[in-house]
Amino acid sequence: MYKEEFDFAKSIAKNVGVFLASQNTKQINSLEGRDIKLQLDTTSEEKIISSLQSQFDHPILSEESGMNGQTTLNQPYWIIDPIDGTMNYSRNCPLACVSIALWVNSDPLFGIVYDFNRDELFSGIVGEGAWLNEIPIQPSGVQEKSSAILATGFPTYLELSQENLAEFISKVTEYKKIRMFGTAALSLCYVACGRVDSYMEKNIKLWDVAAGVAINRALNIPTEVISHRDFNTTTIVGI
Ligand code: IPD
Ligand code: CA
Repeated sequence: MYKEEFDFAKSIAKNVGVFLASQNTKQINSLEGRDIKLQLDTTSEEKIISSLQSQFDHPILSEESGMNGQTTLNQPYWIIDPIDGTMNYSRNCPLACVSIALWVNSDPLFGIVYDFNRDELFSGIVGEGAWLNEIPIQPSGVQEKSSAILATGFPTYLELSQENLAEFISKVTEYKKIRMFGTAALSLCYVACGRVDSYMEKNIKLWDVAAGVAINRALNIPTEVISHRDFNTTTIVGI
């Protein structure tokens, strides 16, 4: 177990989260397509990367700068999303977080997600357990889709063709309720602690889901991350 990495990453997520929560000016750097990039995405990513590199030499995959270093078989690497829920954050909608994970090969080791608006720190270590502010968490235990709440989204890079929309609608309407929180990382934490029952998103980037998937894997909740090109995944968690 990578205890030193885990403890250090928790403190970075908190520090960067507190920094983000204190910002009033949110300069927009780009608004291409369905995406938004803030200067604060870059600034907080730089803070996270420089802190991690001051202590560890694992490669880092991150949203704004891609792959830093070379991943090696059986050697851990960081996956970070400096702000997940950037659009929410830019409009002061309080559903956004900092997400840091450690993976090896295609498997998560641990994940940390810090919701800086609510001071909720979700964490999970595969093989050990998962916590919300150090208190163990559990999923809801709901077994049927017809009784379940699904968290999902229209990912930034999914082409909204008739075909994709029809497939989306046929899948989501199997559930009792649907929620789109605008942050994949927090959606996944909400599955882990029983606020919703499932999460599903197509064409979602690995950094959006890496920590949340780790937290769910830590609780033995079924997780499926199907990798496509350019760090795109189809991610399904829960029922
Ligand atoms: C976005 C969020 C959102 C998802 C989008 C992502 P970002 O990440 O996770 O829930 O639907 O596809 O791009 O841009 O806020 O890091
Ligand atoms: Ca992000």
